[in-house]
Amino acid sequence: MRNSDPRVPGFLGRALSFEMSAVQQYLTHARLADNWGMDRASSQFRQEAQEEMGHVDRLVARMLSLGVAPNASFLRPVVTGQDLQEVLRANWQLESEIVSLYEQAFHFCARSGDSNGQAFFGELLREEQEHARELERWLTQLTEPGPVAGARS
Ligand SMILES: [Fe+2]
Ligand SMILES: [Fe+2]
Repeated sequence: MRNSDPRVPGFLGRALSFEMSAVQQYLTHARLADNWGMDRASSQFRQEAQEEMGHVDRLVARMLSLGVAPNASFLRPVVTGQDLQEVLRANWQLESEIVSLYEQAFHFCARSGDSNGQAFFGELLREEQEHARELERWLTQLTEPGPVAGARS
């Protein structure tokens, strides 16, 4: 089996910083939604934070398997908002950046013949692409006229 390129730990470290930033942001948004009396939105944000924790866990495991100490080094300040729409836009923006990082990591591994790395990042890429699409659907629901507002059904 071929070893990972030394640049792979760089992608993993950046991903870890992003995922931990997402945990911080979504837990904050859960509390904001509580303050706004939006229970369903709050539990949705909490669930998203849990999913991002799962990604943190997988990145940590991957780093350990490559003999790298997990080293998230930059937590982004949380982007808040005045209402649900604003925080969802901020989350969509964060997810888009995470998707872009996983795309780069996936293509890098593909080009360098690291099939394990490619599979690892490919799975995270698909999950975050789906997460971004879910946020788009939620935003659409909020902005379209209709009875459902404030929570994803
Ligand atoms: Fe994630
Ligand atoms: Fe995500």
